[in-house]
Amino acid sequence: MIDFSKVPSPCYVMEEDLLRKNLSTIKSVGERAGVEIILAFKSFAMWKSFPIFREYIHCSTASSLYEARLAYEEMGSKAHTYGPAYTDREFPEIVRCSSHITFNSLQQFERFYPQTQFENISCGLRINPEFSDVETDLYNPCAPGSRLGVVAELLGDKLPEGVEGLHFHTLCESTSFDLEKTLAVVDKKFGKFFSQIKWLNMGGGHLMTKKGYDTEHLISLLKAFKAKYPHLQLILEPGSAFAWRTGVLVSSVVDIVENKGIKTAMLDVSFACHMPDCLEMPYKPAIIGATDAIEGKPTYRMGGNSCLSGDYFGDWWLDRELKIGDQIIFEDMIHYTMVKTTMFNGVSHPAIGIWTKENEFKLIREFGYEDYKGRMS
Ligand SMILES: Cc1ncc(COP(=O)(O)O)c(C=O)c1O
Repeated sequence: MIDFSKVPSPCYVMEEDLLRKNLSTIKSVGERAGVEIILAFKSFAMWKSFPIFREYIHCSTASSLYEARLAYEEMGSKAHTYGPAYTDREFPEIVRCSSHITFNSLQQFERFYPQTQFENISCGLRINPEFSDVETDLYNPCAPGSRLGVVAELLGDKLPEGVEGLHFHTLCESTSFDLEKTLAVVDKKFGKFFSQIKWLNMGGGHLMTKKGYDTEHLISLLKAFKAKYPHLQLILEPGSAFAWRTGVLVSSVVDIVENKGIKTAMLDVSFACHMPDCLEMPYKPAIIGATDAIEGKPTYRMGGNSCLSGDYFGDWWLDRELKIGDQIIFEDMIHYTMVKTTMFNGVSHPAIGIWTKENEFKLIREFGYEDYKGRMS
């Protein structure tokens, strides 16, 4: 348990024990199902924690040149890279840092495959099964007209020479039953190609560390698929599942303003800059010790410290009247936060720390003016 009196504000704090618990679950699913599970950096790339990851998993997936380089340099293994659109300028470096490269279109494959031919690289194609349970279009790669992945009708009966794998990503915080439905569609539409390939990457969105996720069902589903296609190496590349509920964003109240009876606690963090998914998805984050507003109890909006009008969220009921200096702790703020933050408005970026298994706070990184200035010209 984090002792919040030892944590500066604002700060993302990851709990090592919780991370290790998730990693153990993921490792055990991978071993029992006979599949490889790798970390998607797009959700979480706090590289100072990679030595912990390496005790449980070996590889990661990159969606860009910089993620591929981070995999090579800090994870210590070449990346399984999938990028929506590779460029001539970046591709040679991607080749240097990757073991697998998946292409988003047939044109991209044709254009860049020659550069991989004499390297130790296994090439794949992202397919679009045109089926996904994800309801929010922002997170649905199979929405009509999607730019992500090749649809079955473009592939004919034979994959281009040199394609050794197929990759699909259609899930988002999904269950194994969603995967089951997707796999049935993938098998029906693309099964004819499976004899031509060596690996199948089932993307991310497998939230196997969430309470209630049926890992036994996932394992039996993957085993059954493997029994049907024993020559295929199966790869899963979740992101959220690794960092799910492993830590918090600690903030504090800087001011309390009131307008027409609405009280807003102004914080030293911003939803827009530091918790962007709350506004994008959108979803209401949980605050330790707070519940949804209840008539007659002290009720607050939480206000971000950028000037964006919509940089607030509400309402919450707290058991006490808030005062300046009180801590407000947002739960589950490790995945898709640090990787997505901005310095919009020049607002200060929260520090990053780990609450270690020895019950100590370890400050990993602080940010300052130079970080802001360094991104400007
Ligand atoms: C291609 C691909 N792989 C993996 C992931 C990771 O997904 P998640 O963090 O939901 O598990 C994503 C997320 O967008 C993705 O686009």
